[in-house]
Amino acid sequence: MNKIITIANQKGGVGKTTTAVNLAASLAATKRKVLLIDLDPQGNASTAAGISNKNPLTLYNHYFNNNEINECIYQTSDLYSVIPGGEELIALEVAIRNDNKQGFLQESLKSLSGVYDYTLIDTPPTLNQLTIEGLVCASGTLIPLQCEYYSLEGVTGLMNTIKILSEKNLASNRVLGIIRTMVDMRNNLAKEVSGELEKHFSNLVFNTLIPRNVKLAEAPSHGVSGIKYMPNSYGAKAYLALAGELIRRVENG
Ligand SMILES: Nc1ncnc2c1ncn2[C@@H]1O[C@H](COP(=O)(O)OP(=O)(O)OP(=O)(O)O)[C@@H](O)[C@H]1O
Ligand SMILES: [Mg+2]
Repeated sequence: MNKIITIANQKGGVGKTTTAVNLAASLAATKRKVLLIDLDPQGNASTAAGISNKNPLTLYNHYFNNNEINECIYQTSDLYSVIPGGEELIALEVAIRNDNKQGFLQESLKSLSGVYDYTLIDTPPTLNQLTIEGLVCASGTLIPLQCEYYSLEGVTGLMNTIKILSEKNLASNRVLGIIRTMVDMRNNLAKEVSGELEKHFSNLVFNTLIPRNVKLAEAPSHGVSGIKYMPNSYGAKAYLALAGELIRRVENG
């Protein structure tokens, strides 16, 4: 089994990367083999994964320089593997569009199909070709969102894109779930929006709430996940619980 899951939301700063890194670490902690792909030119997931190489091989090298995808895979101290991202992915985005190579990532990942249990893909805060590459190769999408007034803006667009890709048989992706991130239940608006989400997306919203927790924000500067940095923190425990919920959703049908 290699379950490919893309983490997406066009809105910036909603916790995509934090979710990608901490879910990767949590799934790896359950002895599952995990690959994290950083599809964001910001390269935040690569930093958070502790990639020390200043110029690691990325999907750019795989596309332009014929490097094997295996050469772009690095190990992390959190026991998952990562294909780093970085600025050069901007050029990759343009090339995939100009060369009409949509599905490039899907094709590339075929050679890894027996290797991992889970492949998680972190995407940039836009619906560009890199995000589309992630959506096309995934069988499921996770949507992190903050419980704020404008939090649903963009999510409908994302869900429509996933639907259109499926209808055109360009993907067999479906929304696996919505994750409420940076939750502070002392905030009345957060409570209200959280309740609305439960009402409107009852089958999609994960029960686990990810609290606002400073340990999750500190961990990336140490190049590790929150799970490794402070395993007893509320943030780490929440992501471990979320991984449990995800496993039940994915592996029990
Ligand atoms: N649960 C949390 N508690 C505290 N801080 C958090 C939490 N989740 C994320 N953050 C912080 O919020 C900021 C945005 O989070 P993150 O980078 O994960 O969002 P993103 O959606 O990947 O952003 P972008 O759209 O720029 O890629 C970061 O500084 C991160 O450390
Ligand atoms: Mg990010």
